[in-house]
Amino acid sequence: MKSKLMRVLMLALVVVMIASSLGACSPATTTQAPAEPAATAVPAEPAEPAEPAAGTEAIKIGLSFSDFATERWKPEADLLTELLEAKGYEVLVQEANHDVKLQNDQIDNMVAQGVKGLIIIAEDGEAVVTSVDKAAAAGVVVIAYDRLIKTQSIAAYLSFDNVEVGRQEALGVMTALGLPGSTTWTKDNPAKVVLSGGSPTDNNAVLVRQGQMEILQPYIDEGVITIVADQWVDNWDPTNALKMMENILTAQNNEIDAVVASNDGTALGEIEALRAQGLAGIVPISGQDATAAGCNSIVKGEQTVTVYKDIRLLAPAAVEMMDALLNGKPIEGVQAFSLAVLTGQDLPGDIQAVFLPVVQVTKDNVYEEIVLSGFQTYDDVYRDIPEDQRPPKP
Ligand code: BGC
Repeated sequence: MKSKLMRVLMLALVVVMIASSLGACSPATTTQAPAEPAATAVPAEPAEPAEPAAGTEAIKIGLSFSDFATERWKPEADLLTELLEAKGYEVLVQEANHDVKLQNDQIDNMVAQGVKGLIIIAEDGEAVVTSVDKAAAAGVVVIAYDRLIKTQSIAAYLSFDNVEVGRQEALGVMTALGLPGSTTWTKDNPAKVVLSGGSPTDNNAVLVRQGQMEILQPYIDEGVITIVADQWVDNWDPTNALKMMENILTAQNNEIDAVVASNDGTALGEIEALRAQGLAGIVPISGQDATAAGCNSIVKGEQTVTVYKDIRLLAPAAVEMMDALLNGKPIEGVQAFSLAVLTGQDLPGDIQAVFLPVVQVTKDNVYEEIVLSGFQTYDDVYRDIPEDQRPPKP
């Protein structure tokens, strides 16, 4: 238990260091010119555990998750809970099963139960504004975790560099096609590419697509690739993705050459549809999250690329941020970003945000980046791979 706490504190320290260095970096994209950088100072040390004094009630923090269907969210709920409890907070966790109204009700309910802070993974970055504005008006500190909430009433938005996620997905797929410099894909014979976006109600899906298009557009303009389908997957649901890909394959007579998919869950659904047509491992396809299943598919040669976002850094950063905000301390490494730039919509004002870096992962570096870092276990990543084709067990 003690060593677990040590690990948590070490991670918190790493996050504080990353967040500080990020503060000096440019924002997520070249087009995302930030407005005024936030005028925040650097607190001397990570906050001390805020154990409630004997006889006083612990401060309550609410965690509101869009769903637990995507592989990453449940472990993240557990990690956030563990880190907040280590600081003496009482944690309430709610999961909305992709139901926008339920998520709003759950948030209202947690506010009624007296939470002082909320960490929210929004199912719908617009619909959730109703309950978030009410919570903020009641004095609750709201952190938009991973996904943007489109209101200035949030205290901060903490995520990964989602535009870079999209760039790395598209780059991974283009590299697999041999682009740039391919002799196969030419103006006379462009590669037929499918675009598979995430949930249309998740602003991350929009940012990811922005990054994908930065890479793809020059090839489209040159005529060496052509987009044969461009769709979005409701709820990021793998089953929806599978059906979508079945329909696309039928419409295209199975003649597709690559898929730029937006996360591992949807990519794996699409790979099932590709497998049924003998195309898995032939048609390159991307994802993100470096999930156990996604990495296993990569070592099996079916998924081409994933993007690793180390939640072991994101969760502690959110907890440090919440702790600082509740204690009236400055928050680390934030910069102001305009809501209009982050969303591409006509929204007023700025919000404070931090974006953590991401890493592209393919067959070539999955062992080093994912297994050796302990992000996924060796056994999960090399599941069903014959002993003699595996690297040594670390
Ligand atoms: C997250 C991804 C995740 C997806 C589906 C996105 O907002 O950034 O990591 O795979 O939601 O839950």
